Amino acid sequence: MKVDGNHLRTIAPGADGWSVDIIDQTKLPHVFEIKNLRTLDQACRAIRDMLVRGAPLIGATAAYGLCLAVREDPGFEAIDAACEKLSATRPTAVNLNWALANMRAVLRDVEPHRRAEVAYRHAAGLCDEDVAVNRAIGEAGAALIAEAGRGGREMVNVLTHCNAGWLATVDWGTALSPVYAAHDAGIDVHVWVDETRPRNQGAALTAWELSRHGVPHTVIADNTGGHLMQRGQVDLCIVGTDRTAANGEVCNKIGTYLKALAARDNRVPFYVALPSSTLDAALADGDQVPIEERDAGEVTHVTGVDPGGEVRSVRVTPAQSAAANYAFDVTPARLVTGLITERGVVEAKRESLRAAFPEKYAAQ
Ligand code: MRU
Repeated sequence: MKVDGNHLRTIAPGADGWSVDIIDQTKLPHVFEIKNLRTLDQACRAIRDMLVRGAPLIGATAAYGLCLAVREDPGFEAIDAACEKLSATRPTAVNLNWALANMRAVLRDVEPHRRAEVAYRHAAGLCDEDVAVNRAIGEAGAALIAEAGRGGREMVNVLTHCNAGWLATVDWGTALSPVYAAHDAGIDVHVWVDETRPRNQGAALTAWELSRHGVPHTVIADNTGGHLMQRGQVDLCIVGTDRTAANGEVCNKIGTYLKALAARDNRVPFYVALPSSTLDAALADGDQVPIEERDAGEVTHVTGVDPGGEVRSVRVTPAQSAAANYAFDVTPARLVTGLITERGVVEAKRESLRAAFPEKYAAQ
């Protein structure tokens, strides 16, 4: 995607060829800052503290975090310890463990003195694969958007939740990739952006990247989607996923389930953009997905910029009130119209997923 005219990926090797550049997403939309990661611990912190976030980007950062570790110590004991450390940073997005397992399997058969070189090459390959997969999701999803707008004759309103865009992946995004592809093809598309409390990934990140790309959009409070659907102002919903179970149940940012319920009640198609790296065929159903619980401070406080340009955090709840912060929820497969994958649109059913991704189910 382009930021101020320059094509940028969200993660890339630094100028020295071995450190890793990321965008510090905790500072957006107020400050655009590239941060340079040089150690395994810095990579772990970047994932845990959500400088990088979004399932595919978490996976890509874990892969590069492992490169930083292998550079320090290419022994397999150290590699396993690094995998364990990276794996413990965030529990829900399966891409994290997918990327680590992938890297580990490749490094196993390599002589220790060549492991760092191979690790960097493989991490770069995983990133390129993410970009290609997202482009394919974009093409498949853009066809749905075009269809909703009668082949480009009418404006299409898409509702999305959280940020499953460029910032959540290496490039293009998953749920937003169809939006970019449709917009670039000249289709008149407008996006309703759920703010996505408590961390406001919609208001801060989705709105920022859509504005950079010039896609018309409107930020709405999280509770607004149902009302808009009742009034016929949403043509389709497209969201991302952090882990989709073998039976097609979708775990995504908290609040996704409520949007899916409202969509069903109003006969609005509800699509989930699913790169195969996010399909966890080893998990029978969504009940088994580990749901991250984050610091209650994300609920009790909001962060924003004051009129003087200073970024501040302010409390919005009484100091005496307890707060809970469940970061994800599970949407039953029956509420999902289709899964937009790199192999086309697939029904949210075990048999359909198995037919589309037999290699994922072969080991189960
Ligand atoms: O907590 P986050 O910001 O990492 O959650 C991100 C989401 O829920 C996205 O929808 C999901 O990772 C899909 S990203 C393409």
